[in-house]
Order: sequence, then C-alpha cells, then structure tokens
Amino acid sequence: TEIDIAAEDLDLGGFPHYMAKEIQEQPESVERIIRGRLDDRFGVARLDGLNLTPRELRGFSRVKILGCGSAYYVGQIGATMIEELARIPADAEAASEFRYRNPIIEADTLYIAVSQSGETIDTAFAVEEIKRKGGRVVGLVNVVGSTIARACDGGVYLHAGPEIAVASTKALTNMAVGFALIALALGRVRDLSNADGQRIIDAIRALPGQIKSILDAEPEIAEHAKAAATAKSLFFIGRVRGFPVAREGAQKFKEISYRHAEAYQTSELKHGPLALIDDSLPTVAIVPADELAGRNLAALQQIRARGGSVLAVTHEDVDFGELDVPRIVVPRTEPELDPILLTIPLQLLAYHAALTLGYDIDKPRNLAKSVTVE
Ligand code: G6P
Repeated sequence: TEIDIAAEDLDLGGFPHYMAKEIQEQPESVERIIRGRLDDRFGVARLDGLNLTPRELRGFSRVKILGCGSAYYVGQIGATMIEELARIPADAEAASEFRYRNPIIEADTLYIAVSQSGETIDTAFAVEEIKRKGGRVVGLVNVVGSTIARACDGGVYLHAGPEIAVASTKALTNMAVGFALIALALGRVRDLSNADGQRIIDAIRALPGQIKSILDAEPEIAEHAKAAATAKSLFFIGRVRGFPVAREGAQKFKEISYRHAEAYQTSELKHGPLALIDDSLPTVAIVPADELAGRNLAALQQIRARGGSVLAVTHEDVDFGELDVPRIVVPRTEPELDPILLTIPLQLLAYHAALTLGYDIDKPRNLAKSVTVE
C-alpha cells in the first residue's frame, strides 16, 4: 500500500537501502556500545551486565565463543583479541556444530554466545547445551530481551539499534568492539597493565571518528567494487588478525553479490590454492602494518607473478615497494583492534558489487535475517 511505502522511505532516511543506512550509522552505533563502559581511572571496561565479579573473571582459564555465520567470524576476531590482551586460550566455533559433538563443558571456561537477533536457533541450542552441562555462558547480543539474551547468565548488549538488512554490518562492528571491551575486562584482572588498558581505551574512543574517515572513502571503494564484481570468483586472504576479517569479507561478498568468494590464510596459499591463480581469479588481501606485513607482501608478489590481480586493504605505512597493486587504506588503531577497522571497507566492497550487479541488497535470495528453525 501507499502507506507502507511511505513508512519504509521514512525508515530509510533517504538511503537507497537499509544496508547503506546501517553502514553509515556505525560511527554513532559504536558510540552507543562504549558509552558508560570505559573506566579511565583503572584502564578497564565496566561490564556490570556480565554478572561476574573480578574474582570470577580471574578464575577462567579458557574462553569459547559460539555464533553462526558472520557472528561466528566476528567471534574469531574476538578470540584473537582475548588471547592478545588477556593471554587466555580462546577460540570460536560454529554454534551450529557445537551440540552435535557432545562438547566437553568445563567449569573454568567462559562461554560467550554471539548473536545480533538473539533468536538464531543453533546458537540458542548451544547455550542450552552449555547450561545443561553446568557451564557459565554470557551473551553478546543486540536485541534486548531476546531468547539468547534471556537464556544467558549475563551479557553485554550491543546497542547497535535495529538492523534490517540481512547482511549484518553495524551489529558486527559492535560485536567486535564488544569483544575488545570483554578482552580488556579479562586482561585487567590478569597481567594487562593499567597503561596498556589505557592505551586500548584511548584507541576504542577514537574508533567512531576513524570509521567515519573510512566511510568518507566510499566513492573510491565503489570503483574497486565495480572491478571486483566482474570476476566469477575471488579469494579473500589474511593472516592471524587478518584471517577472520578475510572470512567475513568473503561471506559478505557471497551473500549479496552471489559471487563465489573463498577466504584463505595467506600463509596456506602456497600449500595448494596458488595453483588456481591466474588473471581471472582476483584476490582481496588484508595487509595490516603488523609484524606479518613483509610475509604478506611476499605472498602478494607470488600472486602477481602468476598474473593474478590483487586489491589490498592495508595501512598507509605498509611499504609496497615495487609491488604495484591498488589499495584501500584504512587508519591504524592499536594493532589488537585493527580487525575492527579493516572489516569496514569490505562491507562497502560487497555493497557496491551487489549494487553494480543489480541484486536485491537488503534481502538476498535464499537467506533470512535470522534462522529460527533448524
Ligand atoms: C543468518 C544470517 C547471517 C547471520 C546469522 C547469525 O544466517 O543470514 O547474516 O550472520 O544468521 O545471526 P545472528 O542474529 O545470530 O547474529
């Protein structure tokens, strides 16, 4: 009806798609998740909703993160942050697989369920399995009062605001920031110094402005997306902090542009898939200015030598030398937080590829915003 259309236009606030709107909202939605949660005096995050005392936080010797789809990939970003800042073994697993392998639930493991909707059945089942076996599980959830939020022993709400587009953007970014807050809380009851805590706090505070500067580069990213959209298949590659970023980038690209996109560890390329590289198979490479930059560049050289084209998502100070590849440059934050910013241009890359190809961006075929049946 006419009324529906008018209401929808109003919600879109002048944007052509919800995904475009939600991408642009990120500077503000990140402000919302950090508001009131950063404690400068002690260089720590205040997360009262976790319902865990400092003593309990200190008692965990392992972290296991569970989520589905993009939430699972962001969970991998979170696991790396927790290992780096808190020095506790952490890993992420697809919640959809978890309860089917009779998982071992340990009392000294902190389980974290990640979900935008809070209604994904596979994630809800994982929470149920943990609780049935006596484990402690907290949620990193967007929708207040949702099934998963209620089932958990505590949690951190994302406060990303309503997300309509099937391809998640602002909720994912807030999940990654939420993990930074949890990593800070876990780190500060262990060996992370007040000064290091403060360093991370300052970096978290700077994120909204940095995200804005990435979004300002949209026209340039759109040009790269037009080129990427012509390929039938693409690789997304990265290492350590960059690998989950590559996985999420490939996922987003697949979901809305219907192009085959495969994420790979840059280090594993030479152990097989390099055989596939030629001028018809482009690569999107995540190359942060970290201790692996040199090795990453060497891999890019191998790709170029085989005629493969490369688009690098990188930092200004990575020296590409003779290597002539197009670049999307993102601002640097503290190295542990780099994945948060490196993910943002990949949202725009997928969005503009789908736009070029003329697909239904907000409602891709065969996908639902949240999968509530098994
Ligand atoms: C669906 C969506 C994905 C999403 C996943 C998890 O499969 O298509 O985009 O990442 O569910 O959703 P959640 O609401 O649990 O974060």
